[in-house]
Amino acid sequence: MAPPPKKHYLSLLILLSLFALFIFSHYSLYPSSPSLSNPTSHFLSPQNPSSSSSPFTFTIKVLAFDRLPSLSRCLNSLSSAQYFGDTVNLHIFIDHFQNTSSDLDQKLENSHKILDFADGFKWDFGQKLVHYRTVNVGLQAQWLEAWWPSSDDEFVFVVEDDLEVSPLYYKFLKGLILNYYYNHSNFSPWIYGASLQRPRFVPGKHGNKLNLDNETRLFLYQLVGTWGQLLFPRPWKEFRLWYDDHKAKGIKPVLEGMRIWTPWFIKFLHSRGYFNIYTNFLHERALSVSHRDAGVNYGKRAGPDSELLDEKSHDINLLEMQSLSKLQWYDFCFKRLLPGRIANKLDEVDSILHTMEQQKPVVLVGLLKSSEAIVRNLICQFEKLDIRNYIFLIPNSKSDLLHDLLRRGHPVIVTHDIIEASKMSSSESINELVVKAYVIKKCLESDFDSWVVDSNMLPLSSTPHLDSTDSIESNFFVSKSSKFFFVRSSSSSLRVWNERFVQKFARNVESLVSEDSLLKMKGNFADVVEKFAKKHEFRLKIVDDIGFSLKLAERNQSLLTNTKMISWSPETDADSVQKHLEELGMWIIDSDSSCKAVICHRS
Ligand SMILES: *[C@@H]1O[C@H](CO)[C@@H](O)[C@H](O)[C@H]1NC(C)=O
Ligand SMILES: *[C@@H]1O[C@H](CO)[C@@H](O)[C@H](O)[C@H]1NC(C)=O
Ligand SMILES: *[C@@H]1O[C@H](CO)[C@@H](O)[C@H](O)[C@H]1NC(C)=O
Ligand SMILES: *[C@@H]1O[C@H](CO)[C@@H](O)[C@H](O)[C@H]1NC(C)=O
Repeated sequence: MAPPPKKHYLSLLILLSLFALFIFSHYSLYPSSPSLSNPTSHFLSPQNPSSSSSPFTFTIKVLAFDRLPSLSRCLNSLSSAQYFGDTVNLHIFIDHFQNTSSDLDQKLENSHKILDFADGFKWDFGQKLVHYRTVNVGLQAQWLEAWWPSSDDEFVFVVEDDLEVSPLYYKFLKGLILNYYYNHSNFSPWIYGASLQRPRFVPGKHGNKLNLDNETRLFLYQLVGTWGQLLFPRPWKEFRLWYDDHKAKGIKPVLEGMRIWTPWFIKFLHSRGYFNIYTNFLHERALSVSHRDAGVNYGKRAGPDSELLDEKSHDINLLEMQSLSKLQWYDFCFKRLLPGRIANKLDEVDSILHTMEQQKPVVLVGLLKSSEAIVRNLICQFEKLDIRNYIFLIPNSKSDLLHDLLRRGHPVIVTHDIIEASKMSSSESINELVVKAYVIKKCLESDFDSWVVDSNMLPLSSTPHLDSTDSIESNFFVSKSSKFFFVRSSSSSLRVWNERFVQKFARNVESLVSEDSLLKMKGNFADVVEKFAKKHEFRLKIVDDIGFSLKLAERNQSLLTNTKMISWSPETDADSVQKHLEELGMWIIDSDSSCKAVICHRS
């Protein structure tokens, strides 16, 4: 696992700690004295939660409204659970009814019944607190205002009132916190909590089914689960600050393609790349079930969604928790992510290629001269076009961008160390050219077509267009206007693009570039290969890809329909590129540099 970008993370931590101190000394809602210690400094065994005293505080936040039978079922299930003598607090938030003029007396009476019930409810495990709203705030505010973490050792479990939990739920959550928060070797700052609900479909129009093999017990998925959600303190606090920032500036949490009541949190998770732990207990079982009673989320009663796991479920060992490195990561669309795919040596490129989809070209993208925003925009475009076989080439390993790309599952080749030092040039751009030539050979050996682009290009379709006549004549293509290089995989292309060829290319590329000032200034791989081909009698086909350059005056929407690739001069400054792409509707990231839309493809 790659560490998070350090600088950003550290300053955030300091900020959060200051906040925590401030809040702690001014707020009396949390009477215990949580320590601000490093959460990873505790080493307690999750194997036996009943024997160890808890290093953390645990508070249940019940979000209730006007449904007494639901609330009663929910609270009774919570108080029937095993708590092993740990202190567990219960906070009940009761929203006010809406201010209608009809049925007022009945509504008041119903509220009073609910309050009487909450007041009379016996809770033996810790502090009980009832928060009765004076106006109707709605489910979103109930969630948002349910918690401000006062320490890094404080955990919250949020349940809506139509939920029923298993008597074993706390045993599981405690084991999970000990294993994935307090055990240093299984800790990731990018996990924000755990959901006890049984996830089935990706929300949205093309909701993929969540397909898991029956060996998987725990997995990581981005979506928040609203039926029994454990929240970790730091990500929640970060979210509250992010929310504040966006709300204050009037930035709406628009995430096209997603409609759900928790848009802010979902947008935050998507933008920062946070993940939730989910369970897969088979046979439709879960540790919490929603009865989906008629109310805010459901117009009429829909009935329980799963079966509760209990002591009779002998086939499941709740405390069997795999190490973090064994868990699988899934994005919003339930597409499997493969974090940590990096090649520092040429041989390691093979293991990246093994993860690629067969029968599709591999897109090699040099990031040497790119601004981060342009790279992020390109990634969103890949996602939109369902291009999954791409590999980024980054000059060296000392970049925050590299670590972020890796943890989000984008494969990266670090060009600085990949070939023997004796073959390296002092120029990063020469190295990138040489590495590309080597990687193309690797792709051919693994039977992949390759498509070499730079980040000053934006593909508009998922495969380069070739006329049938083109493909008979050659295996190597350079596009006339947008200057990408395409290699078709075949035994004959491998006979040409072999070790001797690549070495010759590597030996000659520096002088080739230095004797041509235009090439030196703005030549990309395709230009250099074209020049090399002329000099060394290697057959290359120049094709018309109907691409166009952003510098051209005729850029307009209607041209886009026939265009396969937009490209611009590498010298164009990032702001103008953004402006032009915005005009064309091709700037598809928001002010947080994350994709404006979540586009799920059928898997
Ligand atoms: C309810 O409250 C809103 C906002 O305070 C107000 O505009 C509306 O007239 C009220 N409705 C009734 C029925 O009192
Ligand atoms: C898991 O799946 C495999 C293959 O589909 C099947 O043979 C096996 O019986 C299943 N195990 C359980 C516990 O369902
Ligand atoms: C921490 O996690 C590692 C990896 O899963 C495991 O080997 C180790 O036993 C755990 N430590 C404790 C104290 O549970
Ligand atoms: C866009 O380009 C097409 C084709 O070149 C041209 O016919 C059309 O007038 C242009 N539209 C605008 C708004 O410039």
